[in-house]
Order: sequence, then C-alpha cells, then structure tokens
Amino acid sequence: MSEATPLLRLEHVNKAFGSLVVTRDVSLDLAAGQRHVIIGPNGAGKTSLINQIGGQLQPDSGRILLDGRDVTRLPPEARAQRGLARTFQKNTLFQRLSTFENVRLGVQARFGSIFDLASRALGRDDINDRAQDILARLRLNHLADKRVSSLSYGDQRQLEVAVALAGDPRILLLDEPTSGLSPAETGQLVDLVRTLPAELGVLMIEHDMEVVFSLADRVTVLYYGEVLASGLPDDVAGNERVREVYLGASI
Ligand SMILES: Nc1ncnc2c1ncn2[C@@H]1O[C@H](COP(=O)(O)OP(=O)(O)OP(=O)(O)O)[C@@H](O)[C@H]1O
Ligand SMILES: [Mg+2]
Repeated sequence: MSEATPLLRLEHVNKAFGSLVVTRDVSLDLAAGQRHVIIGPNGAGKTSLINQIGGQLQPDSGRILLDGRDVTRLPPEARAQRGLARTFQKNTLFQRLSTFENVRLGVQARFGSIFDLASRALGRDDINDRAQDILARLRLNHLADKRVSSLSYGDQRQLEVAVALAGDPRILLLDEPTSGLSPAETGQLVDLVRTLPAELGVLMIEHDMEVVFSLADRVTVLYYGEVLASGLPDDVAGNERVREVYLGASI
C-alpha cells in the first residue's frame, strides 16, 4: 500500500430506496489511524452509508475501495477478510453465551475456518488465547465468564467493539456505539475507543456532540444523504450551513 492510498475510499456513491435518495454522490477517505466521525440528523442516511461500506447494502452507483481495491460488489465476508469490521446500531451479541464465548466466536469467524487452507487459520488454543488477549486489552476480562444477558447495556456495547476487534481489523466501523448509554457509560465507551490500536482507521457514527469533538480528528456531516461539510472538527463546527442544519444546537 502506497502512502497516498487510503485504507478506505468512497467515490461518488449513490443509493436510493425507490424515490428516497439516502446517499447522494458521497466521496470520502479514511486513512490509517484516523478517527473519522459521521454526524447528521435522524434519517440522514448514516447507517445506509455504513451498510454500503460493510457490504450489507449495494450502492446504485459509485465505488468503494479498500487499500485501493474495488470491493463494491463483494459480500461482507470478503470485506472482512480484507480487514474491515463493524458494529451495528442494534446489538447483535449472543445473549445466552458468555462474554468470552462471544469474542471467541468473533475470532473463529475470521481465523478459525478449517476449510480455508491458505488462510491464517488458528487452532483451538490460539483462538482462546486471542479472545483472552482482546478482553484483557480492552480491560473487559472481569466480564469473561458472565452471560451477556446479565451484563449492563454499557458493558454490552463495549463487548460489541471487542467482538469487532476479534477479526484483527484495520478498519472499524461503529454505528452509534454510545446510543442508549448513560453519561458514565458513554465516558467508558469513549475511553475504550481511545485505547484502540493507534494505526486502526475508525469511521464512527455519533450523535453526542461531546463525544464527537472529544474523539474526532475528522468530521463529515450528512444531510439528506449528501455531504454537507467534511473536514477538521473546528472547521466543520464553524461551517455556516452546518450551523443552520443544527439550528443553534451547541455544535
Ligand atoms: N431498507 C430500506 N428501505 C427503504 N427505506 C429505508 C431502508 N433503510 C433505511 N431507509 C430509510 O432511509 C433513510 C435513511 O435511513 P438511515 O437508517 O440510513 O438513516 P440514519 O442517518 O442512520 O438515521 P438514524 O440517526 O435515525 O439512525 C430513512 O428515511 C429510512 O427510513
Ligand atoms: Mg442510523
């Protein structure tokens, strides 16, 4: 990968559901180590955009590139193999399994296939070690043996990030990881994002402006599917059109 090639690039991506345009000519780059936050009102098309990057949704036109390679038509699993991981706006954990088992399944999904002989397939012990290591790194090991259904919602949201990290991604997409959290839990989630590997590229949707401005080194504002502004947090916060959209909200 040359220095000029971003981890992730969107080129003129468009998507409509019937007459409803949810993505309009969106282009953006994510570099290694970047913390890029997408903001925008409800229904602006943020999740739809993440779904197109993850491969859960097909764009109508435009291209999505990982390391300069076109993945626009590849399924989610193939994108995961190329280093992309994500969380969902709604919790997708296995509620009846333990914290550890959830992370282990994440590792297995990416590295455990006995059918893929050319892969970095790991044995059972390695998979367990890896799951343990991720929980330790994120300081969640005290939850390892707890059933997910018994965890607080805040801990569950942290665990979702742990599961996404299980695949050792280079790009992490987070769809509103702090939604529904108390201020204290939000603080913990922010701390967790701060401890993520420095070289990881993170593209995150977030509503809480305090979180946005404490984490982001780049902010993109979506409005009716369109990029209204994109740039350094302070520049975006001072942008006239952004201020109009947020109608005096303290951004
Ligand atoms: N599969 C679908 N079919 C039809 N319309 C859809 C579909 N998915 C989303 N929409 C609509 O597209 C628009 C954008 O939705 P999207 O979920 O991307 O917005 P969002 O910015 O993530 O909103 P929120 O902040 O509420 O999560 C909304 O009006 C939504 O109702
Ligand atoms: Mg959404």
